[in-house]
Amino acid sequence: MKKKISFSILGLGRVIDKRVFHMFKYEIKNGYVKTIFDKNKKKIKKYEKLFRCKGENSFENFLKTKSDFIYIATESGNHFKHILKCFDNNKNVIVEKPPVLKVKELKLLNDIAKKKRLKFYTVFQNRLNKSVQYAKKIIKKEKIIFVDLSLIWSRSQDYYMDWHGKWKLDGGVLAQQGIHYVDLLVYLFGNPKKCVSSIENRVNKLQAEDTHTSLIIFKKNNLSCSVNMSTAFRPKDFEASIKIYCKKKVISLAGLCCNTISINNLSKKNKKNNFIKKFSEKVPSGYGISHKKVFQEIIDYELKKNTNPLKAYETLSTIKLINMMYKSFFEDRWTYFDEKKIVSKLGK
Ligand SMILES: NC(=O)c1ccc[n+]([C@@H]2O[C@H](COP(=O)([O-])OP(=O)(O)OC[C@H]3O[C@@H](n4cnc5c(N)ncnc54)[C@H](O)[C@@H]3O)[C@@H](O)[C@H]2O)c1
Repeated sequence: MKKKISFSILGLGRVIDKRVFHMFKYEIKNGYVKTIFDKNKKKIKKYEKLFRCKGENSFENFLKTKSDFIYIATESGNHFKHILKCFDNNKNVIVEKPPVLKVKELKLLNDIAKKKRLKFYTVFQNRLNKSVQYAKKIIKKEKIIFVDLSLIWSRSQDYYMDWHGKWKLDGGVLAQQGIHYVDLLVYLFGNPKKCVSSIENRVNKLQAEDTHTSLIIFKKNNLSCSVNMSTAFRPKDFEASIKIYCKKKVISLAGLCCNTISINNLSKKNKKNNFIKKFSEKVPSGYGISHKKVFQEIIDYELKKNTNPLKAYETLSTIKLINMMYKSFFEDRWTYFDEKKIVSKLGK
């Protein structure tokens, strides 16, 4: 049996620089980077040294190398074609969020992966935050009245000068930043029933939106969630929070990326904010620290341990909801999860 799992990385941008390099180098066990490729030769040179791995000189050669997984961290709107190329070459794939921008792309890729018996995972690391895992457990017993999601982050105009904020490759605050937390809503509360959205550019200039407001109604118990997300705040990221208002308590996931949890019990005399240290983690940035858990789960699964890595297709409802939210704004109406075609400007 294999002792170590090998990875090839496609795309050596910010997410590698800010999070994934550290994770591979210092955090995960029994996994290593075998080859890398980026269009930018300077980046290959830099990471060849840092990872002590082989930098390939073309995409074609990169696809020929033997490794257990290709991890794709290229621009969101390029994921579909890059995953397709990997599948054509019979490679297992782990793709950064969002796995793809369009609903039909995810369905098609899933069919191919199934036919070819290839593994197809994605990274929504915040699902594995201790705080989120604990919240998922305790909300089962609660009578939830409503939910409130807010993302108060900061992105400068510079950030929007490359592929960010463009419909074809990214989308706006919802599809790039907010998607993590909309994914948590789906993870915690199940499939949505309908939603209505309004979008605006408050401070930044971009094709898509820097500010997104929405109301989502979930199928289960018609639970409603109000959503306010923006990258227009200054000077830095403040918070991403999900507040779950229950009959007798308020459960708050907060911190830069829902990495902390506190419970305010309304019926208790003690009015202090009851911060739960055991299930709250310190994070250095909005990337959080849970990439490690995502990759470790995949490695451990390969090494025959009992883990359950997140299949890309399991996030179909999230991709649907993101497209429903945009569609709602552009068609000026509620959009429904059960509509036949959920297509928006994303990816176009
Ligand atoms: N999970 C998270 O918290 C998180 C955080 C940030 C970004 N992301 C996701 O990671 C992905 C990358 O984001 P980023 O901020 O690192 O972007 P980036 O623009 O900094 O990096 C993308 C890299 O891909 C390379 N690339 C593009 N096409 C290529 C090709 N055909 N062959 C080789 N290299 C190619 C580019 O040269 C660039 O270096 C996005 O999908 C984004 O949504 C996830």
